[in-house]
Amino acid sequence: MSNQFLVAVIGAGPSGLFAARELATHGVRVLLFNRDIKAGGLAEYGIYLDKYTMKSGLRKQFRQALEQPNLEYYGNLLIGAHGDLTLEQLRAFGFDAILVTTGAQGTKWLGLPGEDLEGVYHAKDVVFSYNQLPPFSQKKFRFGKKCAIIGAGNVMVDIARFLIHYQHVDEITAIVRRGPNEVNFTKEEMKHLISYLDLNGFEAEMARVLPVLQALPQDPELGRQKVLEALPKADPKTKPTHFHFDFLASPTAMFGENGKLTQLEVEDNALTLKDGEVKARGTGQKRLLDVETVIFAIGDKVDESFGLPTERNEFIKNPNPKFPEEGVSYETPLEGVFVGGWSRKASEGLVGVARKDGINAAKAVLKYLETRPAQSADVATIRAALSALGKPIITKADLKKLEGIEAEEAKKRGLEDFKFSSNAEMLEALNR
Ligand SMILES: Cc1cc2nc3c(=O)[nH]c(=O)nc-3n(C[C@H](O)[C@H](O)[C@H](O)COP(=O)(O)OP(=O)(O)OC[C@H]3O[C@@H](n4cnc5c(N)ncnc54)[C@H](O)[C@@H]3O)c2cc1C
Ligand SMILES: NC(=O)c1ccc[n+]([C@@H]2O[C@H](COP(=O)([O-])OP(=O)(O)OC[C@H]3O[C@@H](n4cnc5c(N)ncnc54)[C@H](OP(=O)(O)O)[C@@H]3O)[C@@H](O)[C@H]2O)c1
Repeated sequence: MSNQFLVAVIGAGPSGLFAARELATHGVRVLLFNRDIKAGGLAEYGIYLDKYTMKSGLRKQFRQALEQPNLEYYGNLLIGAHGDLTLEQLRAFGFDAILVTTGAQGTKWLGLPGEDLEGVYHAKDVVFSYNQLPPFSQKKFRFGKKCAIIGAGNVMVDIARFLIHYQHVDEITAIVRRGPNEVNFTKEEMKHLISYLDLNGFEAEMARVLPVLQALPQDPELGRQKVLEALPKADPKTKPTHFHFDFLASPTAMFGENGKLTQLEVEDNALTLKDGEVKARGTGQKRLLDVETVIFAIGDKVDESFGLPTERNEFIKNPNPKFPEEGVSYETPLEGVFVGGWSRKASEGLVGVARKDGINAAKAVLKYLETRPAQSADVATIRAALSALGKPIITKADLKKLEGIEAEEAKKRGLEDFKFSSNAEMLEALNR
């Protein structure tokens, strides 16, 4: 393929980075735009803070992806209705195709009373904050002694670990809308939390929900096993925190005093089977839990202000794609605009899944390019428009320099890892 094709990839998380590399290795000239100064997305700012080996391994892969000579990086640049450039402005530059890999940046609130109270947070904000992503790194949180986390996925486990080890909370309750058979965390992650589970309390909870499981019918042993299978490899308990599950419960409201959360109201659920899927259905029976913090770890949705049409937490995909990959549509209703990674399917899977999805999205773009001649978009005009924005735009050379400075700083301070936690500090370190 001729390298005269020019493609914009928006978002330098795992899906965008591997998609950009795939396009570049096929001779396409790629401009990679990224909101954050640093590349990596949730691999840098989502993955639990002490997974140093995993993070440094991924950083190495990302560095290699960025080494493609026909791939340019433009960091610190937000695309979208409230961004530095709108998607329409970007399209007007005449790219041959645009691939959106911006992840799932919207917040999935449930619209419950009390969501605006101090002490009510969304997991993503907490995760971005403890992983030092500006500006979330500057946000103040109120973590009390008693916390509830809504959800039973791996993010719930990460949040619980953070509350135990960095906030020293007394009690954490995971509020799970279905039962133990439907928890969605892996034993590899649960092993970090399971020693904090109050086992007597767990058995009491299993006994409480037993009639509902039996009514479905469901084998409670499978649920017990799913939760407890991490026990043999459990990390030792080093903090006094107690962790509990509250199964078959959905949040319905939050109450507070003087603007601060004091109670979470939950409704008990029954389970039904619909089209082979276990669904939670409210029974009308409500309970109040005394908590100072509620964190929603229920997954994310895409950014509705980005400039692409959305439907139920996702960007709309063309249901009859012209360039499917493995039967999947990467096409949006806008001609030449594709989506990949968590922008295609919000909150789905690990880095490896995002990587594969990014590569497949790039393959769909390549097939599309084969059907048409290259337009003559002018990179000099695009660069001039970016510099007219009057803000520091981060290049590959800057990324390399910043990584070196942070590594040096970690060494000086005797730390496994060091990150500047504001854009100002990063820009100052770069003399920008
Ligand atoms: C809390 C948490 C912990 C996780 N832990 C693990 C783990 O331990 N192991 C594992 O394998 N997976 C883990 N994952 C999953 C993994 O992080 C994701 O699968 C993966 O990062 C998704 O990649 P992505 O590129 O689609 O999106 P993201 O990683 O979200 O990347 C999106 C990129 O787009 C940029 N961007 C966003 N909006 C814009 C915009 N408007 N304009 C320009 N750029 C924009 C962002 O700056 C970011 O760089 C975790 C996920 C979460 C939420
Ligand atoms: N260490 C790791 O490897 C790691 C760490 C974090 C994240 N990740 C990955 O990132 C992805 C996202 O993780 P996640 O934990 O955000 O998502 P998830 O695994 O889908 O879990 C979301 C949880 O929220 C619940 N939920 C969703 N909507 C709800 C609602 N309206 N009310 C009440 N509960 C609701 C879900 O319950 P239902 O099941 O009933 O829908 C589920 O228990 C996953 O692929 C995960 O594996 C990996």
